[in-house]
Amino acid sequence: MKMGYANMMIILGIIAIIGFTEAQLMPNYYAHSCPRAEEIVQGFVHQHIPNAPSLAAPLLRMQFHDCFVRGCDASVLLNITKAGNNDTEKLANPNLTLRGFDFIDGVKSLLEAECPGVVSCADIIALVARDAVVTIGGPWWPVTTGRRDGMFSNESEALQNIPPPTSNFSSLQTIFASKGLDLKDLVLLSGAHTIGISICPSFLNDYTTSLAMGTAKTHHSTVSTQPTSSQENARRLPTTQP
Ligand SMILES: *[C@@H]1O[C@H](CO)[C@@H](O)[C@H](O)[C@H]1NC(C)=O
Ligand SMILES: *[C@@H]1O[C@H](CO)[C@@H](O)[C@H](O)[C@H]1NC(C)=O
Ligand SMILES: *[C@@H]1O[C@H](CO)[C@@H](O)[C@H](O)[C@H]1NC(C)=O
Ligand SMILES: *[C@@H]1O[C@H](CO)[C@@H](O)[C@H](O)[C@H]1NC(C)=O
Ligand SMILES: *[C@@H]1O[C@H](CO)[C@@H](O)[C@H](O)[C@H]1NC(C)=O
Repeated sequence: MKMGYANMMIILGIIAIIGFTEAQLMPNYYAHSCPRAEEIVQGFVHQHIPNAPSLAAPLLRMQFHDCFVRGCDASVLLNITKAGNNDTEKLANPNLTLRGFDFIDGVKSLLEAECPGVVSCADIIALVARDAVVTIGGPWWPVTTGRRDGMFSNESEALQNIPPPTSNFSSLQTIFASKGLDLKDLVLLSGAHTIGISICPSFLNDYTTSLAMGTAKTHHSTVSTQPTSSQENARRLPTTQP
């Protein structure tokens, strides 16, 4: 589970995405309102991720999916919404391989017991993503806090905002630019796919094309950005950590 230098640089790029909606965020926002908040998050991650290291990638991906739709507001967690028709982001196709909702719920329960109604789920997602990556041997990066949770979540918006795996390079650049992310962010976040696993449909075209050309890399492992069929129907490829 060792990560190379390149992977570390890649993960550092995640910092950029965390930063894109946070003008008023600050380090240790809960210093007075819930002083042990970050310690509790870290404790939960340290306790559980070593037993389930494969969850680190989906937890990192959860932050990406959350932040790409309506900013980092935990809208990815919502099951039902008052205003909408209950077709929340979770129900969008990309959710089919999102994992870790129970994990976030577990952290939230501990924080509610410590200081009810104080720590936002959006901050929990951001802190958990960082701490999970650190726990599997990746780098640490600063996570500012003070995000507010959103009350709205819309399946169609998730489909519109999260780039499909079939996106070409110029489309990806355009989508990232619309979130204030530049080429470097795109390269680094794409590189974060070197941890985790994916379902076949996310990259089968590329893989079979490269097989045909004799250039397939058998050690390739990736986290899908958007599956095209359900997890149940998809065959998981065995992967190894690079
Ligand atoms: C939302 O749904 C998930 C399953 O998708 C469940 O684990 C979770 O408890 C639900 N949350 C709430 C607040 O009902
Ligand atoms: C969800 O988003 C779509 C696309 O932007 C929009 O047409 C639809 O009205 C939204 N649904 C709700 C309940 O706001
Ligand atoms: C949304 O879900 C809630 C709780 O399950 C339910 O009471 C409500 O009727 C649902 N709304 C719609 C528009 O389906
Ligand atoms: C994801 O969406 C599917 C299809 O709508 C739904 O059955 C499933 O409960 C959702 N998963 C979660 C974790 O909400
Ligand atoms: C990339 O995809 C977009 C959207 O599908 C398309 O409009 C564009 O022509 C494609 N660009 C290239 C270079 O293939």
